Parts: sequence; C-alpha cells; structure tokens
Amino acid sequence: MKISVNVQLLNALVYYRIKKDWVRIMRQGLFITFEGVDGCGKTTQIKLFDEYLRNLGCETLLTREPGAKGLGEKLREILLNYDGNVSSKCESFLFLADRAQHVDCIIKPALEKGIFVLCDRHTDSTIAYQGYGRGVDIEELKNLNNLATGELKPDLTIVFDVDIETSAKRVGKEKDRMESAGIEFFERVRKGFLEIAKQEPERVKVIDSTQSIESIHEKVLELVNGLK
Ligand SMILES: Nc1ncnc2c1ncn2[C@@H]1O[C@H](COP(=O)(O)OP(=O)(O)OP(=O)(O)O)[C@@H](O)[C@H]1O
Ligand SMILES: [Mg+2]
Repeated sequence: MKISVNVQLLNALVYYRIKKDWVRIMRQGLFITFEGVDGCGKTTQIKLFDEYLRNLGCETLLTREPGAKGLGEKLREILLNYDGNVSSKCESFLFLADRAQHVDCIIKPALEKGIFVLCDRHTDSTIAYQGYGRGVDIEELKNLNNLATGELKPDLTIVFDVDIETSAKRVGKEKDRMESAGIEFFERVRKGFLEIAKQEPERVKVIDSTQSIESIHEKVLELVNGLK
C-alpha cells in the first residue's frame, strides 16, 4: 500500500501537542476514536492506522468498546449475544458501565504514559445507538457519558459513513444482537452520527467510507496530520 504522509504526521502530532497544552504533552498521549454504523470499516481502519503508527515507532494501545479486557469482555458477551429482552435503559447502563471501567482502568493510565490510544467505538456510539436509535434521552446520555469518562474527550473522532446497502453487504449474514435491529433503526443511528459531527465539527470528522480501504486510510492520515 502507498503511504505518503509519515514524517510530517509525526511532526504535526508533536506540533499539535506542543501548541494545545504543554502540561498535557508531558503527561498525556493522544486519544482517537473510530465511530460509525455496523460494517462501516472501523476495525479495518483502526488496525491499519495502528500498524502505521507502530511502523513510525509510536507506542499505541488499540482498544474497543464494548469489551476491552477483563470485566469488559463479560459485558460485551451480554451486550452482543444475550437473546432475552433487554430494556433500552439497561442496555445504555451496560455500555456506560463498560465505558467507565475502560476509561479508568485502561484508557487514562495509557494516556498518562503518553501512549496513543485508538478506540474502536466510544461515547458517540451511545448517543447514536441508544439515543438516536433507541430513543433514550440524548441530554441524559451525554451527562452519563461525562460521568463514565470523567469528562475525558477524544482529541479526534472519525465517523466512517456508509449507506445501509454497503453496511449490509459488509456485515453479511452473521449478525449480532445490535446488528439485527432493522433498517429504520440503522437509518436513525447513521443520522445520529452525522448529527453529532455537525454539532461538534472541531472534534468529529466524517469520511465517506464507501470508497476503497486504501483511500479511506489515506484520509485518516490526512485528518490526523491536520490536527491543530
Ligand atoms: N472500504 C471498504 N471497502 C470494501 N470492504 C470493506 C471496506 N472496509 C471494510 N470492508 C470489509 O467490510 C467488512 C466489515 O468491516 P469492519 O469489520 O472493519 O467494519 P466495522 O465497522 O468494524 O464493523 P462492526 O461495527 O460490525 O464491528 C470486513 O469484511 C472488511 O474487510
Ligand atoms: Mg468492528
């Protein structure tokens, strides 16, 4: 694969960190979240970006929600595979419980060591799926997200946007509990992610993810390179 942004990317990151907050640089790394509907390509892109950073010699933590490690894995099992009735509020709290544990025990300690943290789904998935998708009060969810994260915000969030046909083709027949929720639900969730990006244009950037894996990867590099 052709890689064009490399040394510039590192320079830009260092510059960004120096400019943004000197004290933070000394203590914290960079936190980037990958978001979007099922099958949009988050995991594909986060792995490529992680590999890219590692090749540059950066220390990274590639993690995910729900279910990073330990307790999170048990919560993920319930969230994705439990086949009984799960109320929308219960679902929200399970995701938030997973997030609180993840941020406190995994993400924050890594950032404090100056490690690049790349997270596959985070706070915006709760707003998009449980808020826009299931109809749980969005302002309440924002407050609960803040409680779970201790107000930690990603330095950059990338939403990988695809239509339902593309998503369905990529997800295939083996759907988990969340992926089986139907077309209208999918459309509300997709709209939710786009709405979040409109509301927070500084933090949240959207990439048209119907393109090839390579060109999306190039766009990810451009976005990180452009961090100011
Ligand atoms: N740009 C792309 N073009 C074509 N196929 C792609 C593209 N990106 C990813 N895929 C393929 O689509 C499938 C789903 O991709 P991936 O697992 O990365 O999506 P995801 O967003 O992580 O999905 P999920 O939300 O279910 O975890 C994979 O088989 C992957 O190889
Ligand atoms: Mg994935």
